[in-house]
Amino acid sequence: MAALRLATIGTSMITKQFIEAAIESGRYTLEAVYSRSQVKAEEFKKAYRSKKAYTDLTQMLEDSEIDVVYIASPNSLHYPQAVEVLKHEKHAIVEKPMVTRSKDWDQLIKLAEKQGKVVVEAARHIYEPNFIHITQVIRTIPEVLGASLTYSKYSSRYDQVKSGEEPPIFSPRFAGGAANDLGIYVIYAAVAWFGEPKSVHAFSQQIKTGVDGKGTVVLRYDSFDVTLHYGKINTSMHSVEVYGEDRTLILDAVTGLSKASWLDACSKQVTPVELDSAAPNPLKWEAKAFADLIEEPSAPDNHSLKVRNQELSRTVHQILEDIRQQH
Ligand SMILES: NC(=O)c1ccc[n+]([C@@H]2O[C@H](COP(=O)([O-])OP(=O)(O)OC[C@H]3O[C@@H](n4cnc5c(N)ncnc54)[C@H](OP(=O)(O)O)[C@@H]3O)[C@@H](O)[C@H]2O)c1
Repeated sequence: MAALRLATIGTSMITKQFIEAAIESGRYTLEAVYSRSQVKAEEFKKAYRSKKAYTDLTQMLEDSEIDVVYIASPNSLHYPQAVEVLKHEKHAIVEKPMVTRSKDWDQLIKLAEKQGKVVVEAARHIYEPNFIHITQVIRTIPEVLGASLTYSKYSSRYDQVKSGEEPPIFSPRFAGGAANDLGIYVIYAAVAWFGEPKSVHAFSQQIKTGVDGKGTVVLRYDSFDVTLHYGKINTSMHSVEVYGEDRTLILDAVTGLSKASWLDACSKQVTPVELDSAAPNPLKWEAKAFADLIEEPSAPDNHSLKVRNQELSRTVHQILEDIRQQH
């Protein structure tokens, strides 16, 4: 099968990492890069041996030699750009959050179906083998009593906010903020592990730009609660604990998960869970999965992956909407 001809939107670190992962997967060739700046577009083209560089997005989308577009622009641009990508009959790989209003999620999926194209949210961690393995491990816990999931990391871009600037990731205009940026990872994990909650109770701390700098969310299930902590103005070393009656499962991270252990509730003995060592570029798993979904959408495994991950993404975006409404 011929490699997928990839084009990219955005020239930050994450686009570099995705291009490297896509090439490493052996499933893509880099056809084109897009930047608003001619200089950056040319630099990117040279650095990643892209065939073409564009500064006009419509022109790039009209290029018939492109199969799939990876979108890594500021959050509020994801939806309108993904719509344009699909209307130009190309597949869309959209960075998280794929949309910033849950009603747009339905529109996007409908449009993709109509166009016969794939649209996927690049929620990197749910494609990582260690995350998939731990999901199975959690399902073996006889009675879950609750869980606590944290992803809080001080962003150097908060320094810019302190000096009066408004980078997109902290700007309401670009749907920035902690829930959309880091909260989404722990929401994904909670829904993948425990399903859709009965109710969502959110408490957010606003910063001076008007977005949430950090947040705490309680997801209520029938017989237990899951607490989520996320923040871009603070750092936490706590990550994940899932409480069973006899033992607690402890994970070192939600994304790039590489260490897990059981803590015995009575003896306090710690037993490691065997996991793969961390991959140098963990985006390779999603790059490969997306190529499978695009190239063989009706293969049973790919179809069920698509259905499962769409359901997951939809629930995650409903929770994000709930959080925004309580902001
Ligand atoms: N999956 C992951 O691990 C991961 C990690 C980091 C980020 N992300 C996601 O990737 C996306 C980009 O995040 P980022 O931190 O890289 O954002 P960013 O640096 O603020 O912007 C990304 C790119 O968008 C373009 N851009 C910047 N400001 C713009 C504006 N005002 N109008 C139009 N385009 C603009 C820039 O490209 P040009 O200047 O070349 O046009 C820039 O390289 C976000 O949605 C984020 O959630 C994902």
